[in-house]
Amino acid sequence: MSVAGGIPGSQERLGFEVSRIRGDFPALHQEVYGKPLIYLDNAATTQKPQPVIDAMVRFYTCDCANIHRGVHLLSERATRNYEDSRTRVKRFINAADESEIVFVRGATEGINLVAQSYVRPLLERGDEILISALEHHSNIVPWQILCEEKGARLRVVPMNMRGELLLEEYESLLRPRTRLVSVAHVSNALGTVVPVERMIGMAHRRNIPVLVDGAQAVPHMKADVARLGCDFYVFSGHKVYGPTGVGVLYGKKHLLEAMPPYQGGGDMISSVTFEKTVYNRLPYKFEAGTPNIAGGIALGAAIDYLEAIGLDRIAEYEQDLLRYATEAFSNLPGVRLIGTAAEKAGVLSFVVEGVHPHDVGTILDQEGIAIRTGHHCAQPVMDYFNVPATARASLAFYNTREEIDALAAGIRKVAEVFS
Ligand code: ALA
Repeated sequence: MSVAGGIPGSQERLGFEVSRIRGDFPALHQEVYGKPLIYLDNAATTQKPQPVIDAMVRFYTCDCANIHRGVHLLSERATRNYEDSRTRVKRFINAADESEIVFVRGATEGINLVAQSYVRPLLERGDEILISALEHHSNIVPWQILCEEKGARLRVVPMNMRGELLLEEYESLLRPRTRLVSVAHVSNALGTVVPVERMIGMAHRRNIPVLVDGAQAVPHMKADVARLGCDFYVFSGHKVYGPTGVGVLYGKKHLLEAMPPYQGGGDMISSVTFEKTVYNRLPYKFEAGTPNIAGGIALGAAIDYLEAIGLDRIAEYEQDLLRYATEAFSNLPGVRLIGTAAEKAGVLSFVVEGVHPHDVGTILDQEGIAIRTGHHCAQPVMDYFNVPATARASLAFYNTREEIDALAAGIRKVAEVFS
């Protein structure tokens, strides 16, 4: 049953050419178990548009060479394309300078880099690091490791049953011993859009620096580090329609300048003797070893692709789809949404009464519908809502209302099978 008639703001009204856009994503045009694929696991990873695939193929077909090292033409081309990508990233998140853009493996490595190179040298017994109740494990475990080693304390901003952080509690947790706030911009398990701009302002009034984990935000909205004023921002390439194995750490230049290297090796040095190494300038000081060159270049192609559509249009379209899906879910008997914040990105975490989420996922898979089930690397979130796991459908701008209808029909089928 379609609910399309009941909700204003259709795809057509938005003028978003979703069918043309879908044509750019080859992986979407396949059948699984004889049914057309409906890909709703975009918070785990997004599918890749043809220009991103082409950029990878072009590098390995024509330009394959190491960067920053060769005098030959291929190396010059590879270096230029890789550094052009850095410039695209800089513009994309509105950083002040290329030197503030460090290529890493992904958001997780970005957080670990800040933990080891920024926080570790300054952390003392009794100091505190402040995270929130809705964090992904990658924004919990690096801090736990550090706190354990240094005798510091990990503090957690609580949330309410909608999945919204409690800002009064947050304010009271900003204390003289707080050395860093590290918080997600968007929750992967709940979809909550966290009011990071406000939280950064509150922390900065107390001279506390803030890291924002933007892995789930950057695909859905404009992330502007200058406007946010954050000290560090991380995101992963593969969640933003780019390749796996590449991501970005943004850091304010004066902070990055003062930080020791994260890893030692080639490219991060200016000179080496057995007595002493002089480190390279930013951002190369943090980029030891041959990086993911093809991945970095293709991330630039992903950014070009997104900007050609426009982040504002993407956000508007996805919000329309989220409203539609939320309405569809409200008509599904026995289905409870986990994560109902007033401000959400396109994530629908849910449980079906009497059915284990893995069974939901397995039956939907047989219908050609790909979702994620489990704890979504956010076990404390599951504990808070007192569920072992959820099923999670996560949206991208290539998804459609028809796909939401198919998902709703699939969930009805699940309920029937188990009734
Ligand atoms: N962090 C990714 C997710 O939420 C893998 O699915």
